[in-house]
Amino acid sequence: MDAVEALRNLVSFPFDVHRVCHLIAVFCLVNLVLKITKLFISRKQSIKVLEAFPGPPPHWLYGHVHEFHQDGTDLDKTVNWAKQYPYCVPLWFGPFVSFLEINHPDYVKTILATTGNGLLVADGQKWFRHRRLLTPGFHYDVLKPYVKLVADSSNIMLDKWEKLAGKEESMEVYQHVSLMTLDSIMKCAFSYHSNCQTESGTNSYISAVYELCNLTNTRFRYFPYHIDIIFHLSPHGYRFRKACKLAHGHTEQVIKQRKETLQDGKELFKIQKKRYLDFLDILLCARDEHDKGLSDEDIRAEVDTFMFEGHDTTASGISWILYNLAANPEHQQKCRDEVQAMLAGKDTMDWEDLSKIPYTTMCIKESLRLNPPVPGIARKLTKPMTFCDGRTLPEDVFH
Ligand code: HEM
Repeated sequence: MDAVEALRNLVSFPFDVHRVCHLIAVFCLVNLVLKITKLFISRKQSIKVLEAFPGPPPHWLYGHVHEFHQDGTDLDKTVNWAKQYPYCVPLWFGPFVSFLEINHPDYVKTILATTGNGLLVADGQKWFRHRRLLTPGFHYDVLKPYVKLVADSSNIMLDKWEKLAGKEESMEVYQHVSLMTLDSIMKCAFSYHSNCQTESGTNSYISAVYELCNLTNTRFRYFPYHIDIIFHLSPHGYRFRKACKLAHGHTEQVIKQRKETLQDGKELFKIQKKRYLDFLDILLCARDEHDKGLSDEDIRAEVDTFMFEGHDTTASGISWILYNLAANPEHQQKCRDEVQAMLAGKDTMDWEDLSKIPYTTMCIKESLRLNPPVPGIARKLTKPMTFCDGRTLPEDVFH
């Protein structure tokens, strides 16, 4: 007796199981054909739109993905294309995903003056409301106590380096700096003390954050993963969901714990007396003119953005600053002299000291200019756009 017959005998369905399975299969097939047709129609439309913007010829399947080798030359390649094709370069990631990479300031001006959905920024209305509710989080008075917290995290990193310095001639600092900035953002924004710098391999939340960063990068570079269903059914998709669940669980736990300590949303002054005000307090207590706060889901999304955006950019920026100073010892010496003169025997800097090291500040800014932690931003157009030279883009095209 086959499985279907057994099932039939077990529960006397009023319908034919074979027929239902057949219908489901046909439905899936039609759906698949529709999806593929849609992809090809959108590819045709993008090719037509991008005809006005010449660029390096794409491979029919890989697009330009095979041009990027992840060996440190990727940015140079983009810079060379920008020289060859001033204003903008059309780029294909696989056969269906295209971007128009904008280089010229006049083009950038047009983009930044209009609204669109970004990878980090939410869509227009929502973005506006959230930014207004979160503005108090960036007030100087909120930021001031963070100097001490960042100094504490840096000291943990320096202690580690002191032990390593005797053993190694040179070392990769990025991983250390990245853990230090993650430690700092968690302390400053969420008052969460994780010991992540000393137990980085065992902290499941930290492992999940790194796993998500790596998997996002893999998904972007491997074009079949651009199709949601393929990614979600793949082993990488499974790992992504698992890491997401873990990271979200952790964020929710932090939010829950804090909610329990805040009986109502108008107790900011009490918090200020107990400890410094953090980003989570501001998220939980934020109210708009209708006395409406952010939903739990919104709060979690803001916390996740902050956690990632707050540690990855600063880690990259600081690592490059250290590298550029090491590569220019005369400037490094000037910075060291300036900082030591300002400290005058103190072992750590205060908020007021930050404005007393102009030469070091200039070196930091120059390093951020030479090696920007965010070398590009993305927008999806929500309405058609015309550039200064008359070329146009319709809505719903990435660039
Ligand atoms: C050197 C350090 C940093 C650089 C270069 C940097 C750069 C940027 C850039 C270019 C954007 C705009 C993205 C877009 O328009 O699509 C952005 C957005 C954002 N950054 Fe940073 N960032 C840095 C540090 C931080 C830190 C420390 C935090 C949090 C503690 C943070 C939180 C955010 C958030 C929340 C957004 C989205 C803002 C919005 O919704 O308008 N960033 N950042």
